[in-house]
Amino acid sequence: MDISPFPTITSMIRMDHTHVMAAFHRYHADTSWPRKRAIVELVCTALQIHAQLEEELFYPALSEAMAGDERLTKSRPEHEKMREDIAKLRSMGPEHAAYDALFMQLMREVMHHVADEETVLLPTAERALASQLSDLGMRMTKRRIQLVAQNRPTAIAANTVGTFPLASLTLVSIGAFALARCLRAGSAHRARDDA
Ligand SMILES: [Fe+2]
Ligand SMILES: [Fe+2]
Repeated sequence: MDISPFPTITSMIRMDHTHVMAAFHRYHADTSWPRKRAIVELVCTALQIHAQLEEELFYPALSEAMAGDERLTKSRPEHEKMREDIAKLRSMGPEHAAYDALFMQLMREVMHHVADEETVLLPTAERALASQLSDLGMRMTKRRIQLVAQNRPTAIAANTVGTFPLASLTLVSIGAFALARCLRAGSAHRARDDA
């Protein structure tokens, strides 16, 4: 039985996907400019953190199980294309005529990428890496806390325009959740050691 206090890496990846897609759907053509900017900033930051976590931890873990598989090798170039779109969005601002179209393009690319991950990469990981999924989840949680801390000024700035709670993008909630579980796990271990 898996008694790890950490979610598995695959459940965390699915949760990130769900939250980012939900944020995408809050963006509409008639949304105010400040709110558009805030939604875009939070989505972009969440995507950057998510992509970095996958590249540092998830894809390397899958590399043996999916050696030579094009569905894994194209993942990094797809992240790079996403980063290019994010840089363009950040350079132009919501008043630009192409802003909506570029954000919709990013959304389509992300949906396509997420579909490949959820139909191929995640099920493969769950078959091939079953015994490592919780450990990888723990490592992803720890690394996420570092990356969220580095991106906190951006997230806080975006949140001040009154868009939606940061919790909806897991930028802070997962970090806090993970930290709480770490602390609980630590006290449980100490209690066992003391017993
Ligand atoms: Fe990805
Ligand atoms: Fe992903």
